[in-house]
Amino acid sequence: MKILITGSNGMLGHDLIEVLKNSHELILTTSKTLDITDEQHVLDFIGQLKPDVVINAAAYTDVDGCEQNQELAYAVNGEGVKNLALASRQVDCALVHISTDYVFDGSATEPIAEDGEIGPISVYGKSKLKAEQAIQEILDKFYIVRTAWLYGINGKNFPKTMLELAENHSQITVVYDEVGTPTYTPDLADAISNLIETDYYGIYHITNSDYCSWCEFARYIFEIAEKDVKVIPVTASEFARPAPRPSYSVLKNKNWIDKGFKPLRSYKEAIKEYIELIK
Ligand SMILES: NC(=O)c1ccc[n+]([C@@H]2O[C@H](COP(=O)([O-])OP(=O)(O)OC[C@H]3O[C@@H](n4cnc5c(N)ncnc54)[C@H](OP(=O)(O)O)[C@@H]3O)[C@@H](O)[C@H]2O)c1
Repeated sequence: MKILITGSNGMLGHDLIEVLKNSHELILTTSKTLDITDEQHVLDFIGQLKPDVVINAAAYTDVDGCEQNQELAYAVNGEGVKNLALASRQVDCALVHISTDYVFDGSATEPIAEDGEIGPISVYGKSKLKAEQAIQEILDKFYIVRTAWLYGINGKNFPKTMLELAENHSQITVVYDEVGTPTYTPDLADAISNLIETDYYGIYHITNSDYCSWCEFARYIFEIAEKDVKVIPVTASEFARPAPRPSYSVLKNKNWIDKGFKPLRSYKEAIKEYIELIK
């Protein structure tokens, strides 16, 4: 297939390329070559190249930055995705869009299925929800993939930060009252590569299996990496940040399993592989 990837310089973009490059023709774009907020350019570019699938891995992902730069957040995460949906409709191609557990408010007490009640509490979450809504209004051929707590080789992420801190700290404070599922970008990219081989359009929750708090995740990272760092649990309100985060956003991968796909491996196995790789 001819697949256009936006945000191909990003963390997930990098792994999508790795997973897809041998079996597909890839058109790779970045914010410089295809700014998704430029509606006319998006329509012309996709109209000319006529891909079979567009995978949107582009976003303004700085969750705290979104609180301060709301206009930019809605422009990239909302309007930008609407532009991609309009362009996809124009050439009748499928759109894969990556969304987030931050469209939920955190009040759930058990893993949330795709039809769980939406209620974003941050500008980032609200802007990502705008995109989901636009896609569903404009397109029939879409896969909206909500995922969570991403980490991979090509980007800033929580495990990397923890390991950097371990170099010169003997103890660190980490939030314990936010629970979710760390997800390894190569595993997510692999799942997306399987999904686009089907016409099972719709909304999917795709994360690694199992779940933890940030604090438990940090402890596990230090255990695997054999770092002697004491992790001191703090509440999210003690660790004040501009954007509120959901306190519980474990995503039940229901639609994925119902469609016959295998659950992704546990986050514990995935992080072991990652640490081995970056050591
Ligand atoms: N990271 C997470 O924990 C997480 C969790 C759940 C869902 N997600 C979602 O997963 C997707 C991938 O996330 P990621 O962590 O891989 O993101 P990332 O590393 O921050 O990459 C995002 C990419 O988007 C590009 N971009 C920004 N503005 C753009 C614009 N106006 N036009 C075109 N490209 C633009 C950036 O390009 P430049 O660098 O050139 O500006 C960057 O390469 C995003 O949709 C994100 O919302 C992420």
